[in-house]
Amino acid sequence: MTQLAGKVALITGGAGDIGRTTAQRFIEQGASVVLVGRNEERLQQAAASIGSENCHYYAADISNDEQMRACVAFVLQTCKRLDIVLSNAGISGPIAAVEDYATADFEDIMRINVTGTFITLKHTMAILKANPEGGSVIITSSGAGLFGLANLSGYVTSKHALTGLMRSTALEGADDAVRVNLIAPGPVKSSMTDAIGADFGMTPDEYEKLISETIPMGRYASLDEVADMMQFLASDASRYCTGCVFPLDGGKAMH
Ligand SMILES: NC(=O)c1ccc[n+]([C@@H]2O[C@H](COP(=O)([O-])OP(=O)(O)OC[C@H]3O[C@@H](n4cnc5c(N)ncnc54)[C@H](OP(=O)(O)O)[C@@H]3O)[C@@H](O)[C@H]2O)c1
Repeated sequence: MTQLAGKVALITGGAGDIGRTTAQRFIEQGASVVLVGRNEERLQQAAASIGSENCHYYAADISNDEQMRACVAFVLQTCKRLDIVLSNAGISGPIAAVEDYATADFEDIMRINVTGTFITLKHTMAILKANPEGGSVIITSSGAGLFGLANLSGYVTSKHALTGLMRSTALEGADDAVRVNLIAPGPVKSSMTDAIGADFGMTPDEYEKLISETIPMGRYASLDEVADMMQFLASDASRYCTGCVFPLDGGKAMH
């Protein structure tokens, strides 16, 4: 039995590793999806790799109010409804100590990760509230939203801020059965983790070995394990969960 039959999901960062894997899962579970990202070619490739008539895409920058307004209008015009918002687009920014971190880089990461998530919610909450079946909003944060990490102050600050946005929006949605939750993955086997490792001067294998030693379960999460959590939060299986932070990190957050 499929868990998301007839549902429509908007997924920002839809061409990235987590967005694309989750989109594929949602479609397998009966949903239609609209992938959102800035680069149309990457979106087209992601949609082609998924290969379903239920996979649509729209190029927009989540930090641009007008582009996101138009994006949501496209979703409603194309799919006729909206049930699930996966606010997942994000950047990790540079690796630098606070004293060396460029202010422009800090402002950039806050604009995309925080303001962009705010804009995504701003343009979708009223639609979800008006949906007689309610809705589910999932924000992709990170372990970086739960604890500090040296040399990643922009990323860590932006991901901590998302918890506050999630909690306020969850309170606003509760009366209308719109649930808002946040997933905080630890390192996932993905190109973003490899890129962070490269910024620290390590190969993907070297970085994976180093980081895995700090994780009680001793390994990265797989993209499929992230999709499992996304499916749970998007579906009725989590119908009484709202305002929650869900770590997905092999036990790292309890340290
Ligand atoms: N991978 C991990 O280990 C990990 C762990 C914890 C949390 N996360 C979080 O999970 C989310 C997805 O990560 P991922 O691993 O799938 O990364 P990814 O492969 O780099 O995907 C991120 C996507 O976000 C899009 N994006 C970036 N800025 C955007 C903007 N301003 N407007 C619209 N789209 C934008 C990018 O597409 P364009 O560049 O084409 O716009 C890209 O497709 C991120 O929020 C990340 O912080 C990842």
